[in-house]
Amino acid sequence: MPKIRNLEDLRKVKESAKDLTAARSGGRTHIIVGMGTCGIAAGAREVMTAILAELEKRGIKDVAVETTGCIGMCQFEPLVDVIRPGEPRITYGNVSPEDVPRIVAEHLINGNVVADKVIGRTD
Ligand code: FES
Repeated sequence: MPKIRNLEDLRKVKESAKDLTAARSGGRTHIIVGMGTCGIAAGAREVMTAILAELEKRGIKDVAVETTGCIGMCQFEPLVDVIRPGEPRITYGNVSPEDVPRIVAEHLINGNVVADKVIGRTD
């Protein structure tokens, strides 16, 4: 790996890391639903059903929908992460089935994060 001497070098490293991440995700958007015990108790199954139904309704096929277990944030369940290739991972909290169409339309399709539901972001 080349030495980082200035901000421009750092930017280049960041860009190549982004490309790598995008390549690893197969260039697809990922939606990850927290399905730990507390997630399920808080309604994660209904949220998952709403996500699948919304994608189906809109004919969106290039999205990988996955589940994850407990991540230690019970109070924010149901949790839904959205990762668009080359963009930060956005974590939405206290997601209800009613929030799903807005997240799909705004974030997945238009690329605008639904700010009022965000509880975390990983660059
Ligand atoms: S059981 Fe709730 S975060 Fe683990």
